[in-house]
Amino acid sequence: MANSAEEIKNRCNIVDVVGRYVKLRRSGSNYMGLCPFHSEKTPSFSVSEKGQFFHCFGCGESGDVITFIEKIENVDFRTALQKLADMYGINLDDYGFTNESRKNKFYVMNRDAAVFFLHQLSDRPNPGRDYIMNRGLDIKTISKFGIGFAPDSWHSLIEYMKSKGYDEHSLYEAGLISYSKGNYYDKFRGRVIFPIINTRGKVIGFGGRIIGSGEPKYLNSPESIVFSKRDNLFGLNLTRDSIRQKDCAVIVEGYMDMVSLYQSGVTYTAATLGTALTPAQCSMLGRYTKHIVLSYDADSAGRSAALRGIEVIRNAGLDVKVLHVPDGKDPDEFIRKHGKEAFEKLIENALPYVDYKLEHEKSLNDTSTEQGRLGYIKGAARVLAGISPAEAELYIKKITDETWIQEGALRAEIRQAQSGRQAYEQIRPVRQEHAEAENHTSDEDLRLQHMLIGIASKDPSSIALISKYDYIFTDPVCFRIYNTIKEFSEEKAAFDADTAADSMGADDARVFLSITKSKALECGTDVLLDECIRTIREKELRKKSEYLNSELKLLSEDDDTRITEIMVQMKNINAEIQHLRSNTGE
Ligand code: UTP
Ligand code: MN
Repeated sequence: MANSAEEIKNRCNIVDVVGRYVKLRRSGSNYMGLCPFHSEKTPSFSVSEKGQFFHCFGCGESGDVITFIEKIENVDFRTALQKLADMYGINLDDYGFTNESRKNKFYVMNRDAAVFFLHQLSDRPNPGRDYIMNRGLDIKTISKFGIGFAPDSWHSLIEYMKSKGYDEHSLYEAGLISYSKGNYYDKFRGRVIFPIINTRGKVIGFGGRIIGSGEPKYLNSPESIVFSKRDNLFGLNLTRDSIRQKDCAVIVEGYMDMVSLYQSGVTYTAATLGTALTPAQCSMLGRYTKHIVLSYDADSAGRSAALRGIEVIRNAGLDVKVLHVPDGKDPDEFIRKHGKEAFEKLIENALPYVDYKLEHEKSLNDTSTEQGRLGYIKGAARVLAGISPAEAELYIKKITDETWIQEGALRAEIRQAQSGRQAYEQIRPVRQEHAEAENHTSDEDLRLQHMLIGIASKDPSSIALISKYDYIFTDPVCFRIYNTIKEFSEEKAAFDADTAADSMGADDARVFLSITKSKALECGTDVLLDECIRTIREKELRKKSEYLNSELKLLSEDDDTRITEIMVQMKNINAEIQHLRSNTGE
């Protein structure tokens, strides 16, 4: 057990773990946030990445990553270990005394496999070499990255590795081969192989690109005790020094983009492997530079990855810009066609993240219509409500100088956006005195339902939107009230709360009228509605995540495909929740 505790501590970054519970901001060499162990308004809870411990200057709680989980989840040491192991996909049983040597065995095994792939590519003519050279990579780059080729055969790697003394079971555990119906077979077949090497020079996994077209386009090693995608960046082993020198890191989405930029001389780059940037990756990058430039695809997946990335990078205390590659090309295509200088021009012209978010808001609205213009002002206000006042001033000036937007209107919207969340917290759910026995609605849910009723009664035109979510009216009283308002607004042109109340039962009417008098409704209804819909979407995501979690518990280790699938989905869900909370608005 002691050994597994050490291993867990080595594998989990306390900043990442605490960051799942507490919103942290970098402050000097530490991170600060609101203490989860006592109630406070200004942050006195600090986390040291270097020392891997936390300490609250307010209440005095302190400890390491395991203590943190013990306290925050209110569980014992053993359970805390297990929870951390689950978070990081670590199998605790694997961590006996032999663990370090077990990991080393995997590193060596991966390196041997990499050598095999490399020879397959370089020793004789083969489709892998043809393909990769056709895509413009030269021999120097191929050998720099150790790019290889997996022949289109079921057993070539297995045979080779067995001849080197490896047994199939360990090859399987390292994710190099697959297993089905009593047979082991090569996982990577007919693919160009990119070895993934960590910053300590160990081969931790592989990405294999299909030759030509086919699915999946890229096949990656599964997560293992040595390979955790969220903790590594492809190429960083080669580019760290250059990133430090340039004081800038260009983050791209894919293997080919990374390798291609590198070959063309943009050597301060690294790739996230098909996932959004994680806090762990940011804190790694943060050791080399504070200036990140995101260069993702211009498609909608790339855009939403950029928006999420911005928040994660900002939370890590780093600065971020977003680069736009014209004509829907990816960085690889662009730099091959136009060269290094042209790409560096794009880096120079990358948009600061606030401008990027503003541009995004603009693209969501058709500003040639009245409604679109209004939508844009609101979106912009939400963006500006989330940044420092001094910075916001500059943007307010810029926006009002460059557009038709009036300063007064923009400022008013910013104030509203800021007060939206506050107002939302203000509504006090009132319960009926003779609450039905079946009523188990939580205060939080009741608050949401009341808020929606308030909005619907103040602004009946919002009912069209609310009705899309009307399944959230689980409280019987709210359900009845909502339906009455809805019917009423469908019949009558002018809506009047008192008249509507008359057609409700006395108890319902009392609840309804107290809602309509709430101070919270003094805030603009669209801001409130926006807040409600965010809350609903967050709840839905959380529920989905819970389902997945319980499915995960039922699965056995053999279901590794499904387990990986679930992990990926949960990761995406978490990212989406973060995104919702980050005021980006979509
Ligand atoms: P893209 O589909 O944009 O591919 O995926 P690409 O990098 O431009 O690939 P090329 O240029 O056609 O070779 C971007 C990245 O997402 C991950 C890979 O890391 C890829 O580089 N990905 C994509 C996968 O892991 N699996 C896939 O099936 C597709
Ligand atoms: Mn590409």
